[in-house]
Amino acid sequence: MQGPFSAVKITEDVYWVGAIDWSLRDFHGYATDRGTTYNAYLILADDVTLVDTVKGPFREEMFGRIGSVIEPSKIRYIISNHSEMDHTGCLPEAVQVIKPEKVFASANGVKALAGHFHGAVAATAVANGEELSLGNKRVRFIETKMLHWPDSMFSYLVEDQILFSQDGFGMHLATTERFDEEIERGVLIEEAAKYYANILLPFAPMVSLALKKAGTLPLKLIAPDHGPVWRRDIDLIVDLYTHWAGQKPGRKAVIVYDTMWGSTAAMAKAIEDGLVAEGVSVKSMRLKDNHRSDVATEMLGAGALIVGSPTLNNQMFPSVADMLTYLKGLKPKNLVGAVFGSYGWSEAAVRQLADAMNELGIKLVADPLSVQYVPDRDALVKCRELGRTVAQSMPAS
Ligand code: FEO
Repeated sequence: MQGPFSAVKITEDVYWVGAIDWSLRDFHGYATDRGTTYNAYLILADDVTLVDTVKGPFREEMFGRIGSVIEPSKIRYIISNHSEMDHTGCLPEAVQVIKPEKVFASANGVKALAGHFHGAVAATAVANGEELSLGNKRVRFIETKMLHWPDSMFSYLVEDQILFSQDGFGMHLATTERFDEEIERGVLIEEAAKYYANILLPFAPMVSLALKKAGTLPLKLIAPDHGPVWRRDIDLIVDLYTHWAGQKPGRKAVIVYDTMWGSTAAMAKAIEDGLVAEGVSVKSMRLKDNHRSDVATEMLGAGALIVGSPTLNNQMFPSVADMLTYLKGLKPKNLVGAVFGSYGWSEAAVRQLADAMNELGIKLVADPLSVQYVPDRDALVKCRELGRTVAQSMPAS
């Protein structure tokens, strides 16, 4: 009898058995305005195999979808491509219910699973390039260490030319559509960029390595663990990853700031005008109105970051400190920058901003600019000049 959930056939022998999370709005600090999916896949080979599982609260959805295709006890193997709990939350229960002959993971995956589940998931390590026979099909394992955890790997279903790429090529997008061609291309690019900027940016060399290992394989599908399966736009997403991994600075500046009484905002506006006068495209983002993860997304392809803060109790504004801490982890490259802000009786914030930019490895190409209380016309002209100076330090195109 049909249960409450159905699997979705993605090829003759492969089914999507994942879950749709319409409500997720925060993924460890990343604003997921469109929710997400946790994708798991069932390979109906001679030896039936489950690739990844879903986040814990979605257990019934995953088991329901599996049960719509096959009795779970008929699954012989489970492959765990990545140990983060959005993909392994249901793994201990899957092991209990399915009783697979083996759970496969990378060597680091075996350790990570032990660290998460303390004996409940005993996995077998597979090596880069190793193949697992499923009878009539083979799975080849491709190590993708630090993309984005030490355990991460891809699994390639050789005969069907499907790359199960865990977080790689994924996006946070809750949707009932399972294929890229069913979703507006602009949304795909926007969400794939946001995912890359907020999850994968620090690991650009590993992205390049993974593209070298997997990008040359014949691919009919790329099946990530979040968002739609790539079928129509495989070349597009591989090209975008190649481009993003290159981190080539563009003629775009991001101004990120917060303000107490409008003085730092007025400075930001004049800096913006100086940049625009020199032909730079600007995105100006007040942190009260913009989430840190949207700032990170805007920085993909930018050539300059300009940060502003008022001084509050001898410190930079808390929202600006939050942003800079987040960015420090994402390690953006090849940027020039500048800092600015207003103050009452202590210029601490701008000094702290300059130190933070130094720690980020962003070269300051203009002197830090502080204005006491409220900027007058002359001060705003200096802000505009700062914008022009930054623009002149950016690559021509
Ligand atoms: Fe989707 Fe790194 O977990």
